[in-house]
Amino acid sequence: MNLNNILNKEKINKDDICILLNLKDYESIEKVRLKAYNLMLKYVGEKVYLRGLIEFSNICVNDCFYCGIRKSNNNIKRYTLTNEEILESALWAAENGYGSIVLQSGERNDEQFINKLVDIIKEIKDKTISDTLPNGLGITLCIGEQSYKTYRKLFEAGAHRYLLRIETTNPELFKKIHPPKQTYERRVECLHLIKEAGFQLGTGVMIGIPGQTIEDLANDLEFFRIIDADMIGMGPFIIHSDTIYQKMYDTYDIEKRRIYELSLLMIACARIYLKDVNIASTTALQAMYPVGREMGLLFGANVIMPLLTPTYVRSQYQLYNGKPCIDEFSSECYDCIINRIKSINRPIAYNEWGDSPHFNKKR
Ligand code: 5AD
Repeated sequence: MNLNNILNKEKINKDDICILLNLKDYESIEKVRLKAYNLMLKYVGEKVYLRGLIEFSNICVNDCFYCGIRKSNNNIKRYTLTNEEILESALWAAENGYGSIVLQSGERNDEQFINKLVDIIKEIKDKTISDTLPNGLGITLCIGEQSYKTYRKLFEAGAHRYLLRIETTNPELFKKIHPPKQTYERRVECLHLIKEAGFQLGTGVMIGIPGQTIEDLANDLEFFRIIDADMIGMGPFIIHSDTIYQKMYDTYDIEKRRIYELSLLMIACARIYLKDVNIASTTALQAMYPVGREMGLLFGANVIMPLLTPTYVRSQYQLYNGKPCIDEFSSECYDCIINRIKSINRPIAYNEWGDSPHFNKKR
């Protein structure tokens, strides 16, 4: 089928998505980008929403084979920020017009950890209510697989969005990149529990996992639709040198350019296929290419996550190699991101939560 016919369809299907993801020539990719960009303008608007990212701990009970902070990596120093440090970053975010923050960490399920989080969520909510933010900072959590009871506790404390990537929807591939005790079934179950607990649901995948096919990626987008995700965060798979993937570096290096291109095409296809969801332009895109995050915004993303993690621990939170902004202060990240967004002529949403229209419609 001809590309224009696909792009003129009201609803594209999985076969169409495979065709779009297989495109390689500049002109065709540009057509897909433009379609996605126009749908973004129509369904979520041109504003870019800010989510200040606080990576508050790199302690993790999991051992995802690809991840730099996995439990068995002994080459990093483990840290957990104090609640005072987390609060300080959150207040900085509120004062600087970020409507929302994301609290992200390695996974822990113990009571002490959850209670600490409940306390800090309540405190942040309490201390950030103002005329400009009548409901306080919006809080998104990204702390992995938890029980329903825990999800509910965190929601009741005041967090209202939750990110948990499915990583890949090919169960065989999921199995290959995780140890046996981390199962695909449990991950899917958790996505349902997160929604049941009341959260707006964010999920996503890594793009370019060794062995992943174009069809897998098309299935991923279909999965996002079926699970009824409100937010999507996807990024390129990037090798971390302390993982088993380091030995594949040479092959990976050759494919890198295509993985980056595919990541942008996935953002565009997610916009064309799902229309009114929030889509993040992730930091991993910038790790691959200096203006990767701006490109994500140009391919249909509408959310960006400036780093708010205190500078002294940033280098200890590297999920993959080449993470940008490691030596910078939050204020430098702020200026840098604002200028990047301005460089592509997009307005910034200050002091707004910016929940996805997809979620708002369901209420
Ligand atoms: N490359 C790209 N993304 C990664 N993540 C973890 N390790 C890597 C890597 N090596 C992503 C996972 C996880 C998110 C927090 O970071 O998708 O869900």
